[in-house]
Amino acid sequence: MTEIATGLSSQQLMELEDKYGAHNYHPLPIVIAKGEGVLVWDPEGKQYYDFLSAYSAVNQGHCHPHIIKALKDQAETLTLTSRAFYNDQLGPYEKFVTEYFNYDKVLPINSGVEAVETALKLARKWAYKVKGVERYKAKIIFASGNFHGRTLAVISASVDPDSTKGFGPYMPGIEIVPYDDLENLEKALDNPNVAGFIVEPIQGEAGVKVPSEGYLAQAKALCEKYNALFIADEVQTGIARTGKLLATCGNCSCEISCQHKPEVRPDILILGKALSGGVFPVSAVFADDDIMLTIKPGEHGSTFGGNPLACAVAMAALEVVTDEKLAEKAESLGKIFRTRMQALVDKSDLVSLVRGKGLLNAIVINDEETSKTAWNICVALKDNGLLAKPTHGNIIRFAPPLVITEEQIHECCDIIEKTIIAYEA
Ligand SMILES: Cc1ncc(COP(=O)(O)O)c(C=O)c1O
Repeated sequence: MTEIATGLSSQQLMELEDKYGAHNYHPLPIVIAKGEGVLVWDPEGKQYYDFLSAYSAVNQGHCHPHIIKALKDQAETLTLTSRAFYNDQLGPYEKFVTEYFNYDKVLPINSGVEAVETALKLARKWAYKVKGVERYKAKIIFASGNFHGRTLAVISASVDPDSTKGFGPYMPGIEIVPYDDLENLEKALDNPNVAGFIVEPIQGEAGVKVPSEGYLAQAKALCEKYNALFIADEVQTGIARTGKLLATCGNCSCEISCQHKPEVRPDILILGKALSGGVFPVSAVFADDDIMLTIKPGEHGSTFGGNPLACAVAMAALEVVTDEKLAEKAESLGKIFRTRMQALVDKSDLVSLVRGKGLLNAIVINDEETSKTAWNICVALKDNGLLAKPTHGNIIRFAPPLVITEEQIHECCDIIEKTIIAYEA
């Protein structure tokens, strides 16, 4: 595979981005020109394992043929109508996806952060209309270390200076409590103005932080006690990534349909990324009628939300998740990955910890959070044919497409082990 789409080298392509694009990202020095399943290639034809999956958007693997077929077929028929009119894909998609995740209604939208914004607006509306919170006094509780995207509303709840510095004034009506801390959550919930608590079941960007056993269930119970909505941001954790359809799912066998047996059923569920298999920006907010129907026509929406192309792609992407048993794969292969990484922790002074669930995992490097070690290791991994990205100076997240095979997982663990040992030497 040495097809060069643009005729330009990696170096030339990086220079173009640097010269003509805003400098709001700091990518690893690698250009990807083609992807298939777990593998990607640079313009010079070098092959790599993708261990980021576009931040867990490409769970179904790059360019999955079933999803690409749906995209092509629909693109030749109808792409966008806006919601000024009905379209022939939206209703079937809404039926399919609400049955799949077991909610009365879905509100379709595009990017992950738009879905989070939608959920926040919905929670406020519910607070005023149903809970009876005094006009414009509604509060939403966030967990410290959160990452919900980049809009003004969600950065107002961020504790990361890179996200917030220079962007004030921030949105009011927010309270931040420590993650994985029920006592402080309860104190914050004990306030009649609280509309809801929004939480990531595992904090991906914070470095794959997995909360204590039972945290989500108890947080939900506290929300019920204080009549506040439990809102799960599963943009990164959702759709088979953590070894279950949702990270809030219970311990069912998945043989029946694990989505119907949640350990914790969010009042509002937010999905994005892998909802399209990384083919197209598709996100969604789920809730039952008593919450969702508080928003009336004209009060929220987006030109592209619910477009026919997105609907067709998302249905195909979810079919792949079921047909290829991706949740079960993530669960079993994740165990193998952590066992291999634990063996590395045991023999290397450079890696102090492995953590995660399913195929959302991270290793913690034995260095300062502000160090460059994780970045340098990722550059070395790239040179050895595996792409991963640090979430902090000392944490590397590993999240391959879920279509990876057991043999490939072992091969990739060999690459990681070899790279770390060589770096340490
Ligand atoms: C938990 C979570 N929520 C929201 C978002 C924002 O999604 P998007 O980048 O599609 O706006 C992300 C992105 O990484 C995320 O991880």
